[in-house]
Amino acid sequence: MIIDRISILNFKNIEEADLVFSPKMNCFFGNNGMGKTNLLDALYYLSFTKNYTNLPDSQLVKHGTDFCVLQGFYRDGEAEEEIYCGIKPGSRKVFRRNRKEYSRMSEHIGLIPLVMVSPADVSLIQGGSEERRRFVDMVVSQYDKDYLRRLIHYNKILQQRNSMLRDNLKPVDDSLLDILDEQLSETGKVIHEKRKEFIESFLPVFREYYSRISNGGEQVDLRYESQFADISDPRALFSSRRERDKLLGYTSAGVHKDDFLFLLDDFLLRKTGSQGQNKTCLIALKLAQFEHLARLGQTAPLLLLDDIFDKLDAGRVEQIIALVARPEFGQIFITDTNRKYLDEILAGMKHDYRLFHVENGKTGLL
Ligand SMILES: Nc1ncnc2c1ncn2[C@@H]1O[C@H](COP(=O)(O)OP(=O)(O)OP(=O)(O)O)[C@@H](O)[C@H]1O
Ligand SMILES: [Mg+2]
Repeated sequence: MIIDRISILNFKNIEEADLVFSPKMNCFFGNNGMGKTNLLDALYYLSFTKNYTNLPDSQLVKHGTDFCVLQGFYRDGEAEEEIYCGIKPGSRKVFRRNRKEYSRMSEHIGLIPLVMVSPADVSLIQGGSEERRRFVDMVVSQYDKDYLRRLIHYNKILQQRNSMLRDNLKPVDDSLLDILDEQLSETGKVIHEKRKEFIESFLPVFREYYSRISNGGEQVDLRYESQFADISDPRALFSSRRERDKLLGYTSAGVHKDDFLFLLDDFLLRKTGSQGQNKTCLIALKLAQFEHLARLGQTAPLLLLDDIFDKLDAGRVEQIIALVARPEFGQIFITDTNRKYLDEILAGMKHDYRLFHVENGKTGLL
């Protein structure tokens, strides 16, 4: 999938923009706070019906104005898609594909696959396990609807169990807990199995990208940790914790406690990794996600690289550029504060490209 053109009105600090893109490489440079990330965020919004950092829609409308419009014109071979989004705080948001309104936003997800690499992703490594589970769940759900259904079911039962445990007014009904434990065990087992399979197929690709970017100097690993590993009947896990759970008032064991640990040469990246190594890990992770998505889908996702070169040495930057210039990475959007940097990248580029300058929310082609 390729976006030919975007039209923006009142999105964050962008009052008006009408941009025609290169089908391969699009670079944006400009000083801090000028609107580079906001531009990528507009692209992200048109794919996911929400912004990258999950801000409420009302905060996306330019201050001092009362509505915002995003319009993207896409192409995939012969097929054309026009995606329209109108946000007016206080009113229902309008999201249309080829002038026809969606009844549910979720119907749109997946039509325009997109992978974004952003400085905000560092929370995937540095943050709590919830962030990493959310990443894995998002990637797996995109190709396995049964996984998503089971995940929703598991969380519903978990909530029910937790509210029973929290309720101080009624004595806990152990026979009801037996039923809930049974359901958590069954669903949790499938979730665990699917997460395990995913990591097994994802890991070699992730490691290969990391090794390419770091020029073979470092070995990265992604280790799946779960209380469901190596147990045949997880009900025993829940029953062994039951009395403690009653005191705690929540469910202390289950796949909702799973974690995915990033290791660099056998040490926890979160603790011992340098900033550049953290960044390398995130980029390798997202490129692996890209490859995974591209393999399963019909079309290459858009690839958005926000400020990725900061903290990386010249060798790593060169490797990344060589990687994403390959034909399997379709259309790319790169931002940086430094024009000189982008010029150097583009000088070696054999493909079609466009270079834009962003200043105070206004974007111009150079
Ligand atoms: N709703 C809004 N209305 C007006 N301006 C906004 C709104 N939301 C954010 N902004 C402005 O957008 C600017 C940030 O833009 P953005 O994050 O795209 O900058 P950037 O070019 O990516 O900078 P950096 O190089 O620091 O990453 C800030 O000046 C912020 O005040
Ligand atoms: Mg930015």
